[in-house]
Amino acid sequence: MGWAPHGHPGYLRACVEASLRRLGRERLDLCYLHRIDPKMPIEDQLGTLQALKGQGKIGHIGLSKVTSEDIRLADKYITVAAVQNVLNVRDHFDPALELCRDLGIPYVAYRPLDAGNLVRGPGLEASLSWLLQLGPHVTPIPATSRLSHLAEIVSAVGAGGRP
Ligand SMILES: NC(=O)c1ccc[n+]([C@@H]2O[C@H](COP(=O)([O-])OP(=O)(O)OC[C@H]3O[C@@H](n4cnc5c(N)ncnc54)[C@H](OP(=O)(O)O)[C@@H]3O)[C@@H](O)[C@H]2O)c1
Repeated sequence: MGWAPHGHPGYLRACVEASLRRLGRERLDLCYLHRIDPKMPIEDQLGTLQALKGQGKIGHIGLSKVTSEDIRLADKYITVAAVQNVLNVRDHFDPALELCRDLGIPYVAYRPLDAGNLVRGPGLEASLSWLLQLGPHVTPIPATSRLSHLAEIVSAVGAGGRP
């Protein structure tokens, strides 16, 4: 059994409502379509999020794990507020990076430490500064479950941040 994208409008609406409940908020400032469901028309998936935006439940719509073609297509239906794709020193090829720079779309690099492997390889500071020097539109989102690691991440960004 694996994970499959599920982009049915009813499911997307239920996910947004559940997030609002869990967070105790009336609006999600930024909501990503986590995966485009290839079995559903993309305009239905984006149209559902756009309608939720119209109702004030979503502030901005982002896309996750998308190609340049996906971004260009989505751009016809919605304002793409952010793109979240995997990018790190090891997994470093993503043409969407340049497209986002050209279109002025913030690019959020997920798995920036290759799930922790890069901390033992190039190191924390080198890995994060490599991402930050790609441009002001790039924001890495490193994750940690430990406060001491969070302090190391903050200090690494301070030391090796944007030029
Ligand atoms: N859009 C998507 O499809 C997608 C997919 C995957 C992930 N994400 C998001 O991307 C973010 C980060 O991704 P990720 O968690 O997969 O990978 P990551 O940030 O590349 O790596 C996280 C790992 O790095 C370790 N780490 C962090 N700081 C460290 C330090 N100072 N020293 C040693 N180890 C350290 C953490 O361990 P400790 O907990 O022990 O610190 C954790 O195991 C998350 O917010 C996640 O939700 C999005």
